[in-house]
Amino acid sequence: MTALNESSTPSPAAPAEDPARDDDAPTAGRVSFASDNYAGVHPEVIEALARANVGHEIAYGEDRWTARLHEVMSHHFGGDVEVFPVFNGTGANVLSLQALLPPWGAVVCAETAHIHTDENGAPERVAGIKLLPVATPDGRLTPELVDRQAWGWGDEHRAQPLVVSITQTTELGTCYTPEEVRALADHAHARGMRLHLDGARISNAAASLDVPLRAFTSDAGVDVVSFGGTKNGLMGAEAVVVLDPAAATGLPYLRKMNMQLASKMRFISAQLVTLLEGDLWLRSARHANGMARRLRDGVAGLPGVRVVRPVEANAVFAVLPDGVADRLRTRFRFYDWDVATGEVRWMCAFDTTEADVDAFVAALREELERS
Ligand SMILES: Cc1ncc(COP(=O)(O)O)c(C=O)c1O
Repeated sequence: MTALNESSTPSPAAPAEDPARDDDAPTAGRVSFASDNYAGVHPEVIEALARANVGHEIAYGEDRWTARLHEVMSHHFGGDVEVFPVFNGTGANVLSLQALLPPWGAVVCAETAHIHTDENGAPERVAGIKLLPVATPDGRLTPELVDRQAWGWGDEHRAQPLVVSITQTTELGTCYTPEEVRALADHAHARGMRLHLDGARISNAAASLDVPLRAFTSDAGVDVVSFGGTKNGLMGAEAVVVLDPAAATGLPYLRKMNMQLASKMRFISAQLVTLLEGDLWLRSARHANGMARRLRDGVAGLPGVRVVRPVEANAVFAVLPDGVADRLRTRFRFYDWDVATGEVRWMCAFDTTEADVDAFVAALREELERS
């Protein structure tokens, strides 16, 4: 896969006094379809940060917002879950895997998994964990696909496959059903393996499947979740959520060692509480998914445009006639997904509007007419 890393920084525009007024960069400060983390912060989250910004609170997670976050997460996932707020998704994944594995452990994951393609080897370099990637047709593992790498237990020459990691929604915009997750969990557990779920877009999956968060996590046998908030309107807040405390050890120590322990944790927890206490998580995710469907419907039937993957959440993957993507990119930012096949990826966010989508479709139509 020759995907451009969505977290990589596009070529910087010339420095400007106010980046929001940089007229030399035609796409700067404008709506983009590059990534859901190009979007800003939801206004309700900004308000919550201001409310949290009153007086002194005990540092390092002993604050009232973090206590409330434990209650809110326990409500969503059921039972008394353990919650470790962190700064970013890569940190959540590395910590989760480290806590699930001994030093000789390995992780079976999809070849397209973010932990394999877009974390600069952090699981390997920081945690010393061997990844065992498997090719999949659509980003989803199945028990049969897991078995391509889940073997060799007891062989001292092979890193021991002890965790299966899945991503929900997958990097290809698809979702696992609760039954599919359950089948993977049962398969993994029967082999002495644990199941980790990278939930950078977990809310988009719940919105798409129209089920509670617990339906495809705690109720389906997932052991540890990397809970994502940043792509769903937070400023920067994710969390490791341990659903089976027997599965993971040492997280408080690992979080500090890995520089993911925030001293002013109230500001991370306040974001997550605001997302999850009411329905902001679902409202925002439903909206982003709806904009992706509108985009798919808008481009379907345009001459030479092929939507090449099912649109199950907030991503649309398409192939365009030669040269069109580069011309369109001068007006809206988005990434190539696979340069070899000409596949591009368009992402919608909580703040993508119908007008944004319609303007993008109109621009695409214009560029097609010029070809
Ligand atoms: C599926 C998935 N997991 C994890 C991450 C990690 O996010 P971060 O950039 O916050 O480390 C991302 C971000 O692109 C992602 O798409």
